[in-house]
Amino acid sequence: MTNFDAVMDITPRPPIVFVAGQGSWLTDSEGRRYLDFIQGWAVNTLGHSPRPIVEALASQAKRLINCSPAFYNDQMIRLADLLTQHSGLHQVFLANSGAEANEGAIKLARKWGTKHRDGAYEIITMDHGFHGRTLATMAASGKEQWERLYEPKVSGFVKVPLNDLAAVEAAITPRSVAVMLEPIQGEAGVFEASDAFLRGLRTLTRERGLLLILDEIQTGIGRTGRLFGFEHAGTTPDIMTLAKGLGGGVPLAALVAHRDVCCFEYGDQGGTFGGNPIMAAVGCAVIEAVTQPGFLVRVTQAGEHLAHQLHALSHRHGCGEVRGKGLLRALNLTRDIAPTIAARAMERGLLLNAPRPDSLRFMPALTVSDQEIDRMSEILDDVLAALVAA
Ligand SMILES: Cc1ncc(COP(=O)(O)O)c(C=O)c1O
Repeated sequence: MTNFDAVMDITPRPPIVFVAGQGSWLTDSEGRRYLDFIQGWAVNTLGHSPRPIVEALASQAKRLINCSPAFYNDQMIRLADLLTQHSGLHQVFLANSGAEANEGAIKLARKWGTKHRDGAYEIITMDHGFHGRTLATMAASGKEQWERLYEPKVSGFVKVPLNDLAAVEAAITPRSVAVMLEPIQGEAGVFEASDAFLRGLRTLTRERGLLLILDEIQTGIGRTGRLFGFEHAGTTPDIMTLAKGLGGGVPLAALVAHRDVCCFEYGDQGGTFGGNPIMAAVGCAVIEAVTQPGFLVRVTQAGEHLAHQLHALSHRHGCGEVRGKGLLRALNLTRDIAPTIAARAMERGLLLNAPRPDSLRFMPALTVSDQEIDRMSEILDDVLAALVAA
């Protein structure tokens, strides 16, 4: 019997121990294989143990692992260059997790407010949004279950409904410094900010002298079929945060900002592991892979194939809408059976996530094949059929 007692019990984990992964497949300690449509929570951009990451880690480990954030290193510079070239923004602070990048974005906006907006500090965020698990990013999030957790809250966040431009406008006061949101609310269950809303926010924030912060931690690095989610709406934020897919499985995050906003002074921001060469080398390998000609076209095609299969399942089993873009999708089941479906799918060797009681989320590797999507839908078809028959 495996002893799990020393691992802090913070989530109901199934009694399975994973020991290996390749591409879209995971293997547990009993040798069972699982088709993985969770992929580290939309993290493994190129699947499990992909060659570009294995090679970047091995070759960088032999050259230089860490030389302190107080010095430049070649990989930090290379990754910052790649991110600025591709985003149209100008400066990058590298970090280790999405929450840390978002903390950085909140601090940068507050610093900018102190310097340029008479001490304004309030950030307008969205109901049901998710920005991380530090105290400030929990306060920025709009998760109902967190309303009364870890009081007192970090103050300075005002919530409005997603896709309601009038509500954002009504929430602006002299204290407001920024609007912050995800292009698609992933953890909430895959709900898109409409292109019209994002464009409206860009115009409104410019008119009112506020910053637009986009949390692209889940949507960035090709997940929606474009390198960054904001490209669909044709708007550029003042500040963007990245994590998850940027590291392709390793802890790596980035705060990326327009030059006009970059106002940190020495000592305002930092972190021991920020910009370490080994993680930065992986980030470069991931961006180089995702920006290869044809890569994002294939993500779009795979996303359409996935959506097509989900629509077919929905039609066959009387489920609801299919939401999302690219390879970030959700299927509404119209009943609170998502956790049961995810558990049954796991018994059949398929890993799916249930972000809401009534919805399943699909976030496979961006390298997933059509055959793997078809296999996933066959298993899900069987599981749904068995549940309806029961
Ligand atoms: C949109 C978004 N922002 C922030 C985070 C937090 O990232 P991390 O878990 O790396 O701190 C997540 C994680 O799910 C996320 O989806």
